[in-house]
Amino acid sequence: MNRIKSVLLDRHSHKIQVKPRLNIMNTIVRSSCLCVFALAGAVSAAAVGSNATPVQIQIDCAKPTVELSPYLYGLFFEDINYGADGGLYAELVQNRSFEYFNIEPRDRLREKTAGDMNPMYAWEVIERGGGKCQTTVSRWTPLNRANENYLTIYIDKPGDGVGVANLGYDGIRIAKGETYDVSLYALLRDGDKDESLVVSLEGEDGTVYGSFQTGSLTPSWQKYSGTITASQSTDKARLTIVTKAKKGKLLLDMVSLFPQKTFKGRKNGLRPDLAQALADLHPKFLRFPGGCTVHGYGLAQAYRWKDSVGDVAKRRANHTTWGYHETLGLGYYEYFQFCEDIGAAPLPVLPVGVSCGFNFYEYADMDELDDWIQDVLDLIEFANGSVDSKWGGLRARMGHPEPFGLKYICLGNEEHDKPQVRERFPLFVEAVKKAHPEIMIIGTSGIGANIPLYPLMKKLGVHSSDEHYYNDPAWFIKNQNRFDTVDRNGPKRFVGEYASNGNTLFNAIAEAVYLTGIERNGDIVEMAAYAPLLAHVDHVHWGKANMIYFDRQGLVKTPNYYVQQMFSCSKGDVYLSNRVLSENTNATPNLAVSATRDNSAKEIIVKLVNYGDQKVDADIYLEGVTQVVRKTEVTLLAGDPKAVNTLQHPDVVVPKTTVLKAGEQFEYRIPAYSVQIIRIGME
Ligand code: AHR
Repeated sequence: MNRIKSVLLDRHSHKIQVKPRLNIMNTIVRSSCLCVFALAGAVSAAAVGSNATPVQIQIDCAKPTVELSPYLYGLFFEDINYGADGGLYAELVQNRSFEYFNIEPRDRLREKTAGDMNPMYAWEVIERGGGKCQTTVSRWTPLNRANENYLTIYIDKPGDGVGVANLGYDGIRIAKGETYDVSLYALLRDGDKDESLVVSLEGEDGTVYGSFQTGSLTPSWQKYSGTITASQSTDKARLTIVTKAKKGKLLLDMVSLFPQKTFKGRKNGLRPDLAQALADLHPKFLRFPGGCTVHGYGLAQAYRWKDSVGDVAKRRANHTTWGYHETLGLGYYEYFQFCEDIGAAPLPVLPVGVSCGFNFYEYADMDELDDWIQDVLDLIEFANGSVDSKWGGLRARMGHPEPFGLKYICLGNEEHDKPQVRERFPLFVEAVKKAHPEIMIIGTSGIGANIPLYPLMKKLGVHSSDEHYYNDPAWFIKNQNRFDTVDRNGPKRFVGEYASNGNTLFNAIAEAVYLTGIERNGDIVEMAAYAPLLAHVDHVHWGKANMIYFDRQGLVKTPNYYVQQMFSCSKGDVYLSNRVLSENTNATPNLAVSATRDNSAKEIIVKLVNYGDQKVDADIYLEGVTQVVRKTEVTLLAGDPKAVNTLQHPDVVVPKTTVLKAGEQFEYRIPAYSVQIIRIGME
C-alpha cells in the first residue's frame, strides 16, 4: 500500500494525518468517475493516456474555520458593450428622443468611439410616391427641459406619405404573433384637421408586418399609443412613422417600441433571455449602474441618478464613457426592481464628484460638493424613505410604495489616488454616516491590485472596500492565496470587478482557482463579481473578455459564466479546512480545493479545480463525518483549455451533472483542465 509522503497544501489545518492510500483500480467509485470523465467529453489529449497523479484530499468536516459571507457571489452591471441600451433594456427604438450627440474627443483613445453620434442617428427619412419633406432636429418647443431635442418634419409635398423610419439597434428583432407597445409624442402645426400618423413595423423591402393609426394630430404635444402584433419574424425590421398630411410642420419625440414580453412582464422592462441568464446565476447582489460610466467621460456626463427616474420621457440621455448613448430608460427604479425580482441586494454606485481618471481629471469644486453629497442622501431616501418624503414619494408614484430595503451604498468606482480624491471622499463618508448610520458604505480601493486607497478606506472606517483587477490567468493562479494573510481588522474586501482577460475554458479555470481562495477567506471577502457582464457581439468596447455575449436574437454563456454559476449555486455556509497530500513531490498537481458545508441542505461541498494538463486521482477523506448519503452529485466543467463558446456553437464548454457514489472516503478522478463541484449529502 502506498503512503502519501508530502504535504502540498494545508489550509487552516492543525495536524496533518497521513492516511493509507487505497487501491483504486478496481473499485466501483473509480468506474463512476470514469463515467463522469467520459461524459465530460473533450479532455485534452495531453491528459488522456497519461498517468494520473495520485493525491489524498483530507477535509475536516467537524471543524469549520470561517463563516462564508451570504453575499459572496453577485453581479456587476454596466452599460458598456450595449449592455443596457440595445441589450438588457428591452426598448427596440434607438435614439428615441433624438438626443444623441458627440462629445469632443479629448484624447485619441476615445476618438474612434465618440465619432458619429448625432441627433438623427438610427433614423432615416421617408418620402413615398412623390412625397417631399425636410427634416431638422430643433429645440424651440421642447417636450420638457430634460428632453429638449425633437424632430421637425416640414411637409413640402404629401405624395404617398412622408415621415421617418427608425432602424433600431442595427435592425429591429420582432417575432411572429408577439405584440408590441408603441408610443410617441407628436404635434402638427399649420396643417389640416384630422390628419394622423400610420406607425408600422416594416421589412427592409417595405413589407408591412403590422401597423396602427394614431388619432387626429393637434397643434400641441400629445402622446399617442397603440399596439402592433407582428405578422412575421425578422431581426431586420424598422419602425416607420408616416403621415399623408398635405401641409404643415410635424413634430415628433420620444418614439418607443416595446415588446409586451419582458422579464416578469414589467413595463419599461428587460429583455427576458438576458435577464433570465442573469437570474440563473442566483446573484446575491447587483452592483450598478457601472464603473467608468458612473464617473462619466467628464463630470458633465457623470451618471446622476435623478436623471434616471420618473417618466421616461423626462429622463436626460447621456453620452457615456464608452462612446455611445444611454437613455437612462433603464434607470434607478428599474435597477432596484430588477434586484427585487432576482433576490439580489442593490448596490448602487454613486460618483464622488471626480471624473474617470482614465480620460482626464475633473473635480467638482469644493463649494459644489454638497450637491453631489445630497444626491447620495436623496438616493437613500428614494430607496428607503417614507412615501411622504420627497424622494420616497416619487418611488411610490412610480409604483413601489414599499421601500426597496437598501442596505449598502458604493461611493466612487475606482478613483485614482489623487489629493483631490483624498480631500473629497471623506466628506461623502462623513455625511452618509451622520445621516444614515444604518447604511453600509462600500468605498473604493483605487486602481489595480495594489489597492492604493485601501489605507484611506480603513482610516475612514467604511464597511468594505472595492478592488478591481483585469489580469492574465497566470496572475489569478499565482495570487490564489491573496486573502489568506490580509488585515482582518480593516474594511471587508469587495472584489467588485475582475476577469482573467479571456473567455477560454482556461480563463474560467484560472478564475475558479481564485474563487477557491476567496471562499477560504469568505469571512473577509464579503462580495465578488466578474466583469464586464454583457456584450453585444457587434459592439464590444471591452475587448478582453465579457461574461455573456448576445445579438438581437440570442445569447451565449461563456465558460466564465458557468464557473460563476457553479460557485454561486454551491457556495455553502462555512468553510472546512482541507489538505492536499501527494506522494510525489516532483509531480505537484495543479489543484485548488475549496470545501464548505451547506447547513440547510446538509451537504458537504467540495470544489476541485485542476489547472494542469495532468489528470489527478484523488482519495477524498471526509473527516469527522459519520453518515454520508452514498449518492452524490458532481457537476463538471472540463475540456480543451482553449475552447470557447460562440453564438454559433454555444455548447462547446458546458457543465454536466452526473451522480457518483461517495462515502466518508471515496475516490475521484479529476480530469485535466477541469472545475468540478461535488455535493455530498449527510444524514
Ligand atoms: O468593467 C469595465 C471597466 O473596468 C469599468 O467600467 C471600470 O470600473 C473598470 O476600469
